[in-house]
Formats: sequence, structure tokens, C-alpha cells
Amino acid sequence: MNPFTRPEQRQSWQALQALADAPSAHLSDLLQDADRHSSLQFVAAGIQVDASRQRVTPAIMQALLRLADESRVLPQAHAMFEGQQINTTEQRAVLHVALRGSHASNPPWGQAISTAVQQELERFTGFAERLRSGELRGFTGQTITDVVNLGIGGSDLGPRMASEALGPQSPAAVRVHYVSNVDPWCLAAALAPLDPARTLFIVQSKTFTTQETMTLAASAKRWLTDAGCSQTQWPQQCVAVTAKQEIAMAAGYLTEHCFHLWDWVGGRYSVWSAIGLPLAIAIGRDAFLQMLAGAHAMDEHFVHTPAQQNLPLCMALWGIWNRNFLGAPTFHIAPYAAALGRLVPFLQQMDMESNGKRVHVDGSIATVGTSPVLWGGLGIDGQHAYFQLLHQGQHLVPLDVIGVRQGHAGLPLADEHQRVVLLNLQAQVQALALGRSVADTAQWLRDNGMAEADAQALAPHRSFSGNVPSSVIWLDQLTPHSLGALIALYEHKVFCQAAIWGIHAYDQWGVELGKTMAKAMENGT
Ligand code: F6P
Repeated sequence: MNPFTRPEQRQSWQALQALADAPSAHLSDLLQDADRHSSLQFVAAGIQVDASRQRVTPAIMQALLRLADESRVLPQAHAMFEGQQINTTEQRAVLHVALRGSHASNPPWGQAISTAVQQELERFTGFAERLRSGELRGFTGQTITDVVNLGIGGSDLGPRMASEALGPQSPAAVRVHYVSNVDPWCLAAALAPLDPARTLFIVQSKTFTTQETMTLAASAKRWLTDAGCSQTQWPQQCVAVTAKQEIAMAAGYLTEHCFHLWDWVGGRYSVWSAIGLPLAIAIGRDAFLQMLAGAHAMDEHFVHTPAQQNLPLCMALWGIWNRNFLGAPTFHIAPYAAALGRLVPFLQQMDMESNGKRVHVDGSIATVGTSPVLWGGLGIDGQHAYFQLLHQGQHLVPLDVIGVRQGHAGLPLADEHQRVVLLNLQAQVQALALGRSVADTAQWLRDNGMAEADAQALAPHRSFSGNVPSSVIWLDQLTPHSLGALIALYEHKVFCQAAIWGIHAYDQWGVELGKTMAKAMENGT
């Protein structure tokens, strides 16, 4: 094992600091260079990224790549893919990549994992298909029309986000609903229009101890039994997805209704496992497999592509430059596709629960910044709300903008609407990059007929400093394959940043204290 080196002690880090301290060109100047547009284009697993508006120069990119090399990011990635116990605070391997067949197949355990993953995939996607086809029935013998997923955090955000993104593309054989919040309003609102005889619950919890989810599950069971479902019948209409099958079975869940995930799958990386059951019900087995294939394609790119073209690694490096050297405390993601409306909450958990850490892997306190505050939302809506701060506020807010080239074919007026969406995407990133000086603004106001004194007075308020870095992430179409690749892209970006910062990305001890206190308060201690 290599001795731990703090990131700021690396030569490349110091070189980057010197570059950051030196006078630098504004993006409006950098973008004059025609070569820049081609040299900062990336392609991986069908996703294209235009990074020409990142505030990097060839010298900065070189130093960032040296940082990746000195931090041994790609060797660390290989250790993860090989199933080494990289999550040392929980003594676990980190192998969500095995769920899409991307782990190293070193015998004997590599093969054993493949077999176990394949078996469970067959089980839960088979269950999803039987439900979709109407084969599975409720306690009165009627077909199931609605599925309610009960789970929170990683047991909710991934499948919910992907169901919303991809569900409309699949015939709605069975409606899938999600309840994560224990506030009674949420369950009551979800259940109000549903028929207990035709509703199946999926209780998703890796630990099967999460208080909120267990409370929801108990209420769901009561809702069924209050409607005439007997004590022996309710398990027919409830399914458990968990790493703790013994707890679920002790609570009465049927063996054939328990689906498994492993301790080497982190909750926020679990959409590929049986936690994806509600998604498989919403979109069908074939589409679910396509999503796994998209993620696998990104995994292949990540492990086999040299650093300078390695998209997850380069995205991580631009993020490090923005966070640690340009001093940006937050990071914004703006999808310009309404179907990706839940992407940001999903990525917030992935990024901030992974890298919101202040202690290095050796236990020392980190003095360099780690995860920025990730925030965002649909770009079209944001640009009429908080984008004001992005354009003229006091914080530098770097952003990823996600565009989908082909919108929803077949919808009325689809082409015209999509044209407006993409036009706005392009205008926003360009305006944020170029800005407009006070002098240019005054001239523009004069050109538009304003008197000199008024133009001078108004110009500061209507000028923009620009120089806001962004990447544009393009999907040709929103498909299960492209969504799978997009999620895996961010997963690996988070991994690379943790590897450079020297922090543990796969534990989440920060969420424990509040849970312990809630338990203590409940017990009156
Ligand atoms: O409290 C945080 C957390 O543990 C997340 O890491 C996890 O995704 C979520 O709660 C749900 O946990 P579980 O799946 O065990 O119910």
C-alpha cells in the first residue's frame, strides 16, 4: 500500500496553485481560439461533452492530468474494479460496477459474483415482467394495477429519477408510485386513489432498519389489512429489497418476495441492483438491461481510455480546478430536458453523501476543499429564477448543462418546443461565459436610443462579468442506454475526485449521529 500524501503536498497541486495565482485570460478571449473548440470535445459511451467553456488552458490541463497521475486515480479505479476492500471504514469492497458486468473477472470470486448478480437480476426482472403481464394477482384475485415503492435516499432517488425519465417511453402496464417521506401526508396522498386489492408495495431498504421506511411499511400493511387483506394474505402483496433478508423474513415477508443486494453495493450506487425493481416494473426488463449496457459502456471507457481523453476523469479535474483553484464553493447542474427533472436530487446524494467529507483516508483533517455544494434544477425554469445569481451574483457558480438533441418525437409541436429549449441552453452558457462589459453595455444602450446620462447610469446594472465555466453534456436521445451511461459518468467522476482529495467516497458516517439521537429520543434516553 502506498503511503498517503495530502493533495496539497503534490508537486502538481503546487503547480496548479501557481497557475491559479498568475493573471489569466477571460473566457471571452479564450473562446476566440478556434482550436479550443475541437481540443476540448470529449466522447464516451455515446455522450458528447463540450468543455470549451471550462477556464482551462493547455498548461492547466497538463498540470491537472499530472495531479491525476500523482494521485494514482486510474490505478485506484482498477483496485475498485478488482473488488479490493477500498471502503476501509466499513471494511467492504465497492462493486456496483459488477451489477453491470464490469468488474474484473479474476477467478474465483469474480465468477462467483457474476453468477450471483445474474441470478438476482433474472429473479427481479422476471418478477417485474410477471407483474407487467398481469400474471401476479392481489388478494382478491384481481390483477395488480399499481405499485408503491417505500424507501428513502438510495432506496428511492435512483429508481424514481429513472422511472420519471424513461417511464413515458414505455407502455404503462402498471403504474409505479414512490413514497419516501414519512410525513403522513405523503403516504395518504399516494394511497388515496388506489385500490388495496390491486396495489403491491415494494419495501426497499438495504439495512431494513431505516425508521422512516419501516414506519411507512407498517402503515402500508395496515392499509391492506384494514381493507380485508388477511394476516396470511398481506405478504402476497408486499415485496422486500434488502441486504438483510433475515430481518425481512422475520417480519413476515415471503422468501420468494425478498430480493437481495450485497453489502458491496452502496445505497446511492444501487439503482443497478434489485433496488431497480420498481424501475424494471415501470420500463420493462429489456429497457432495464439497456440501462445496464449504457453504464457498462461508460465503465469500459473509464477503465480503458487514456487520462487525457478519459471523460469521467477530465470532468473530475475541471471540478477540482473550479473548486480548489478558482474557489467556487458550489456546483450547479442544469438539465435542459424536463424528463430529467429528478436528476439533480439523485446526483446530490451521489456526490455530497460520497464526498462531503472533511477527513482524509489516513484520519487527518483535510484543509483543501472537498465536495462543493451541488445544487440545480431544470435549466429552462432556473433561468427565470435563480440564474440571476449565476449571471450577476457574487458567487462563482460553475455548471454542467445537460442537453438532449432529439426531443420527444411524436408529441404535438415537439420540434418547435425542442428548438426553443436548445436555443436557450446555448444562449445561457454563452452569456455566462462571455458576459458583457460596462462599456459595451453603455454602447449597446446608446445604440438602442438611450440618452448618454441614462446609459451611463444603467450600464453597471446591466453588465455581466461573465467568465463562468460550464460543460455542455449532450445526449443524442434520452434512452435507457444513454441514461445508464450518464449516471455511470457521474459515479466515476465522484470516484476520481475522492481519489484526488484522498477521502473515503463510499461510507456515510455523517448521517449517523442524527439517526442515533432520534433513536435515543424515542427511547427517552
Ligand atoms: O441515512 C442515509 C442512508 O443511510 C443512505 O445512505 C441510504 O441510501 C438511505 O439512508 C436509506 O438506507 P436504507 O436503504 O438502508 O433504508
